[in-house]
Amino acid sequence: MTAVGIDAVEVWTGNLKLDLAETFAEEKGKDPAYFTKGLGLRASSLPDSYEDIVTMGANAAKKLMDRKGLEPDDIGRIDVGTESSFDNSKPISTYIAGCLEQVYDGDFHHANKGERKFACIAGTQSIDDAYNWIRAGRNRGRAALVVATDTALYARDDSGEATQGAGAVAMLIDEDPSLVDLSTDQGYGSADETDFLKPNQQFPSVDGKRSVQVYLARMREALEDYESVAGDVRLDDFIYAPFHTPYPGMVRKAAALAYRHVTRDTAVEDELAESIGRQPRRESFDDDGEYEEAVREYMDALKETEQYQDWYAATVDPTLTISRDVGNWYTGSVHLARVSALKTALEAGRDVAGESMLVASYGSGAQAEIHGEIIQDGWADEIAALNVDEQIAERYDLSWSEYELVHDRHNHEMDSELEEFTTPDAEFVFDGWGRMGERK
Ligand code: CAA
Repeated sequence: MTAVGIDAVEVWTGNLKLDLAETFAEEKGKDPAYFTKGLGLRASSLPDSYEDIVTMGANAAKKLMDRKGLEPDDIGRIDVGTESSFDNSKPISTYIAGCLEQVYDGDFHHANKGERKFACIAGTQSIDDAYNWIRAGRNRGRAALVVATDTALYARDDSGEATQGAGAVAMLIDEDPSLVDLSTDQGYGSADETDFLKPNQQFPSVDGKRSVQVYLARMREALEDYESVAGDVRLDDFIYAPFHTPYPGMVRKAAALAYRHVTRDTAVEDELAESIGRQPRRESFDDDGEYEEAVREYMDALKETEQYQDWYAATVDPTLTISRDVGNWYTGSVHLARVSALKTALEAGRDVAGESMLVASYGSGAQAEIHGEIIQDGWADEIAALNVDEQIAERYDLSWSEYELVHDRHNHEMDSELEEFTTPDAEFVFDGWGRMGERK
């Protein structure tokens, strides 16, 4: 069977940076370690006045098309995953196609365009749709462009404010992919939940503590469902495990859950029992009432467990490197975690072609998906072509008062006079309604 998967990826970060350990911590009178150690974050990426989900998505897509030498005629489908949509009718993919048509010969009139909404998992769902379209033989030799783009902003003083972020990940889904083959099994955990909602409002209403419990509960279901088709997962089956990363501290919890589930290791359980003086409460890990204590108890015990520490350092920690500096990108977050892992391998001079990854996506509301991916021969060239470090380093470092200004502006106060903190030298910038994404 021909491989179908992600052929290429490009990343576009918001041009502004809010330093959490200094600027945010100082303003809020908080211990910087709450951000760096507790949440696991150093900084957030934020959009400048002239950036939004369209411009970031279009800029990422253009970079990808240019690097791969693609023209509109090579792409038969454009899918956008976002939970920051501003249009309840037209999909964001039409705006992005409109931008791209300004700079390429030809157009996307032949392309099927859509938008997926299921909170942060919508990017992965868009990839699934593109994969199925190609597998069904409906692509007529064309590839699919999937763009995961979000401005993940929270109301000021909301518990989520420290986890904000903004950026886009563009991915090309095609036959014989260079990066990863997606032709593997999938598992799901899904339930109607109300911990994170955005009913016609710019910033979400969030029950933060509950959202963490729901993430873990759905993730465990997805793991069980995945194993029901793929067979039992073993720790050494996967070289990396990129998770949806609202903040690295959440992934620490999810990794502990996955480890406990996957090991079913009575030796580990015995070791834990010894260290805490009794059997850990396995069954109550994602139960509302006992959740906090059970997770804390288990994670504390794991700190002393060498096998877990080694597994976490090799398999999970490399997925978090980029996230620490950019925060939550919602739909793009798990795809940034994949890039982060492969970038770590490249920098370490490892050849990981042929190895597998276990990719764990999640969207509030709520659904988790677990699937396997096989790293392809062209992975190193694809990852070497990215300039993520430069993009992160070049962001403008906001003062607190500048942050308040730009945060207000993105709270749909677009009528106010635009002020820019960085020079809008990207291909596509937001220049007011009616001129969305106009080329400079
Ligand atoms: N030094 C070191 N660590 C510290 C510390 C200090 N001074 N102070 C606190 N900490 C630690 C805490 O012990 C805690 O550690 P654990 O996670 O290991 O228990 C960690 O810092 C976080 O502290 P709190 O739990 O007290 O944090 P909080 O309540 O202020 O905020 C949150 C956490 C509720 C998740 C908040 O960030 C939030 O509301 N975020 C938005 C929702 C979210 O991201 N949910 C995640 C799951 S839903 C999802 O994934 C979808 C999505 O993208 C939104």
